[in-house]
Amino acid sequence: MKHTLLALILITSLISKADEGMWLPQLLNAMNIKDMKKNGLKLTAEQIYSINKSSLKDAIVQFGGGCTAEIVSDKGLILTNHHCGYSSIAYHSTVEKDYLTNGFWAMNKNEEVYTPNLTATIINRIEDVTAKVLKGVLATSTGAKTDSITKANIKQIEKEASAGTQYDAFVRPFFYGNEYYLFVVETFKDVRMVGAPPSAIGKFGGETDNWMWPRHNADFSVFRIYSGKDNKPAEYSQDNVPYTPKHVIPISLKGYKEGDFTMVYGFPGRTQEYLSSYAVDMIMNESDPLKVSLREKRLSIMNVDMRQSDAVRIAYAGRYASIANYYKKWMGEMNGLKKYDAVTKKQLFEKQFTTSITADPIKKEKYGNLFNQFQKVYTEYKILNKQVDYYSECLMTIEAFTYARGYISLIAELKKKQRGLANTFDGSLAEYKKLGFYKGYNQPTDIKICQAMLNEYIKGVAAGNRPPVLDSFIIANNNDAKKMTDFLFSNTSFVDKTKTEAMLNDIEKYPNLYERDPVYYITNAILKYYSESVFPQFQYDEKEINELEKLYIKGQQEVIKDKKFYPDANSTLRVAYGKVAGYKPKDGVENNYYTTLDGIMEKEIPGDEEFNVPPKLKELYVKKDFGQYANKDGKIQVAFTASNHTTGGNSGSPVFNAKGELIGTNFDRNWEGTMSDIMYNPNQCRNITLDVRYTLFIIDKYAGAGYLLNEMKLMK
Ligand code: ARG
Ligand code: ASP
Repeated sequence: MKHTLLALILITSLISKADEGMWLPQLLNAMNIKDMKKNGLKLTAEQIYSINKSSLKDAIVQFGGGCTAEIVSDKGLILTNHHCGYSSIAYHSTVEKDYLTNGFWAMNKNEEVYTPNLTATIINRIEDVTAKVLKGVLATSTGAKTDSITKANIKQIEKEASAGTQYDAFVRPFFYGNEYYLFVVETFKDVRMVGAPPSAIGKFGGETDNWMWPRHNADFSVFRIYSGKDNKPAEYSQDNVPYTPKHVIPISLKGYKEGDFTMVYGFPGRTQEYLSSYAVDMIMNESDPLKVSLREKRLSIMNVDMRQSDAVRIAYAGRYASIANYYKKWMGEMNGLKKYDAVTKKQLFEKQFTTSITADPIKKEKYGNLFNQFQKVYTEYKILNKQVDYYSECLMTIEAFTYARGYISLIAELKKKQRGLANTFDGSLAEYKKLGFYKGYNQPTDIKICQAMLNEYIKGVAAGNRPPVLDSFIIANNNDAKKMTDFLFSNTSFVDKTKTEAMLNDIEKYPNLYERDPVYYITNAILKYYSESVFPQFQYDEKEINELEKLYIKGQQEVIKDKKFYPDANSTLRVAYGKVAGYKPKDGVENNYYTTLDGIMEKEIPGDEEFNVPPKLKELYVKKDFGQYANKDGKIQVAFTASNHTTGGNSGSPVFNAKGELIGTNFDRNWEGTMSDIMYNPNQCRNITLDVRYTLFIIDKYAGAGYLLNEMKLMK
């Protein structure tokens, strides 16, 4: 009795964490609205999400698949992050018109530029289709049978929801398949770039400041959605017109203070909050550290070469940024999890869970064996996961290998086509050539990476877990990665543009001509080994883990009745709410919740790639030419922290005050809080938001594009 009581107290203390959660907007009324109001919200649930009336959701945009944006004018103007618009800005940049360096501003609609393949998706409605998806699935159905029934049901539901309309429709699983929701959406294909600050402002602080607080970059860019004359999505055309949205987000110039209610509305990508202790142990103690150390080696090699040559620096800038981004993220994540004692917390919770079901024979029957099964599958899965990490973070980071892999898959398609099984070969060949084969390839860098990665591989992967061909190669070279690298690079055709182009021209006549190329040979052996001996079992285990998680979540929902459960992020529309809040990163240090222009001047390093301050910004600062964008104390506020639960994909999300007015654009998290994808620590996890007044200040005072503000609804 005493035991059970203690168990329940512990469970409840673990559950009611303020601010955690990414909630389904259509369920706010049933689940969160009371709590949100208690925390200061002034809107109704229907003002946030409604099917019949216009609501905030009509102004939330999934931008280019991986980010979020918000509609701020009745002419389809949207705000997102600079790093979300980055590839678009780069696409339109040339040496003569370097928009990355200098910024870009369309001074009227004719100057707005269309970016191919950039999309903007708006949600029309969300529907619970769990019963429909599971129709025909019996309690006795096997895994494979269940899969085929649900797949067919999903196809049918998607078809019915979209046929004969301008909408697309897709169904996604939630809670590992305990629930399913249908999303009916409109995807606009004509999205044009309107403005972006120079990188010295939009990316001020660069990699050094990334994932860090205090923050001082204006991480925004401006785009516009265009539609056909009927206001429906249309392919790009000169005749398209600015989209008229159902809702326009008003912008607050009034600022915020610590403790104020905040709400983030957007498309978080992926979280794993309900993992077992075995999974968290694997991530925190094995996978994250391994990936971090491999990326560290790669980045330091790239860094040296990039510093020695401008051409290399420019060629590798984008790749370097994206490798560095998750390198840093995983490092913060594992540190945060360790400091929070995440595995012990999970274990404790699992013990309490087990204790609380022992008295109930039905629950015991259903859930009593869960953790044994988790343990069993993770014993095997851990080994496979390490293999997969070595595949993607070590072997396949050698660019010559990835080129060979591309070539190998081209040949597979060619052979299929020759047997009449497919007709995609020409397309893929064109794709392959268009990819700019060897564009930005620097062989000396790749050679260094190859040697370093082979060395790591030899040290880290036991002989029995290696592709036999690679193993023989290692043995023949006495474990000497340099010798191996020298041999590969002096005998391969896969590191030379001319030779590669010749290969591509020959491919139809002599598909097997390069089989004896050493890079081809090794890469082929790696691919074969992985597709036969690693990936199938890896995927099988992932499925099993999914089934266990599905059961575990259900068990938690049955046991902890008064807890509200939010589903893990899966790139669908969510609402997170919290407060403007600073935090204490460590003993004796307290972080303020906002930064100002003063901090930019403090951080300035003239001529530095990351910390240079453009003269015009300095001039505005010195003259205090702040217009209506300064805070009451006369300072320009740049960014602020709050306790909203966010993740990758939330970049560009609107951050609202209690009245549904825009106070900023979300763009990052703090170092100590990057663990929130796995466990949310309310004392440490903060999202970082660009103050919208700084955005407007840059548009108006710095860029002289104040005419854009005429379209916006400014609340003074
Ligand atoms: N850390 C942020 C996010 O995960 C921003 C990344 C882009 N910025 C950068 N310096 N790499 O996307
Ligand atoms: N910077 C991330 C993004 O691009 C946001 C985050 O992970 O907090 O979505």
